[in-house]
Amino acid sequence: MPSVFIKTYGCQMNERDSEAVAAQLVAKGYTLAPSEAVADVILLNTCSVRDFAEQKAIGKMQNIAADVRKHHPEVVLGFMGCMAQSRGQELIDRLPDVDLVLGTQKFHHAANYLDEILAGRRDKIVDVAAEQGSEATIREHLLNGNAQKSVTAFVSIMQGCNQYCTFCIVPYTRGEERSRSIPDIVAECRQLVSQGVKEITLLGQIVTSYGKRGFGRAELPLGQDAQQRVPTTKKTSFVQLLDAVHEIDGLERIRFTAPHPKGYGDDLIQAYARLPQLVGSAHLPVQSGSDRVLKLMHRGYTRERFLGIVRKLRRAKPDIGITTDIIVGFPGETEDDFEQTLSLAREVQFDNAYIFKYSQRRDTPAAEMPGQVPLKIREERNHRLLETINEIGKRKYDAFVGQRTQILVEGPSKKNPARLAGRTRCNKIVVFDGSERHRGQLLDVKITRAGSFTLYGDPAIVNL
Ligand code: 5AD
Repeated sequence: MPSVFIKTYGCQMNERDSEAVAAQLVAKGYTLAPSEAVADVILLNTCSVRDFAEQKAIGKMQNIAADVRKHHPEVVLGFMGCMAQSRGQELIDRLPDVDLVLGTQKFHHAANYLDEILAGRRDKIVDVAAEQGSEATIREHLLNGNAQKSVTAFVSIMQGCNQYCTFCIVPYTRGEERSRSIPDIVAECRQLVSQGVKEITLLGQIVTSYGKRGFGRAELPLGQDAQQRVPTTKKTSFVQLLDAVHEIDGLERIRFTAPHPKGYGDDLIQAYARLPQLVGSAHLPVQSGSDRVLKLMHRGYTRERFLGIVRKLRRAKPDIGITTDIIVGFPGETEDDFEQTLSLAREVQFDNAYIFKYSQRRDTPAAEMPGQVPLKIREERNHRLLETINEIGKRKYDAFVGQRTQILVEGPSKKNPARLAGRTRCNKIVVFDGSERHRGQLLDVKITRAGSFTLYGDPAIVNL
């Protein structure tokens, strides 16, 4: 049977989509290739959110076409995901070595299309059409295919975005918001927990809009209490989903990403105080600290409203970890606007922030706005904001030293595989000297040292 190698760019949704495609192919008898050099099929799952991500994937495909094809002429090459969706046929016109372009609503057709191409029945396939019900197809997990047992898992609860922030390409690459049903999601989560998963991250482009535009069909057998659940309360559908997932016995931790700040109504804030398994961590993408820029971005909240959400969250869950995304150099951003972002960062005291230099995206309103900010200024603002974020982060991380905290051990540390790594409930990574048998355990560790956005636990104090 053919072997496949999948390389993933971008967000956790992309990681999850790649995993589901890999699981689908394994179920059809494919094997997973250890490297692209020996694979029969190479798929790049792409990101479009910034131009840099697109250029990286295009450059990678050019290299593969030049190197791998030379030694392995029969190799099948494909793009899937967001850039495949937004560029379609154009990718094959530009890179004639590419055989398959698979859009974001078509992942579940990967195996059939590859079979056709490998059997020589079809030459090139481009499929980027919209497909009803596709949100419910990202369901297979690779847990059994993994040599190691997975402790954490991602579950896709919805696809698409209707927010139309003026800088963002996602509504065009991921389409309209479509949500899976609560019973369908709960059934998948139950299955994962029965396989040993302890922590589930509910995923979507904008999870706080979950269910706002109706639900897809439930295609899995429903659990008893899921069937009886009738959404009659005033809670948003997303909080109803959290309640339903929270009832699963054996599930220790629930996370979700990415929410929109304006989705933090009182019901969601109270959920943090009410649901013990919902972790004390919130990723709240603020994007800017200036009301003028927030309006141009079409974010739907003001600086004051954002600060109010943060205050309420900290009241509901005092030790909550709060992270954010910030764009610097949005069109028209003045020095004064940028300083308001700096001051907001200081006021909130984010645990961490992902900072992005504004990148013009095709077909988005901001790409046409006046006052595009020169790269030099975007870089300089990026640098200044990063210094502020690092300084705040350092203080926040240092404050953990000497504290005891609970971690869920996920496996070997990425940076140093000889050590183990886990996460606190507030989503900070803790590295410690442990052994394979700690994987999947909830451990109390004492923090002895803080590095750059990493904590270190003392092995002597780990409960053995
Ligand atoms: N330029 C720079 N950053 C962007 N993001 C989204 N679109 C753009 C863009 N055009 C950032 C936002 C978002 C994160 C995932 O990527 O901060 O929250």
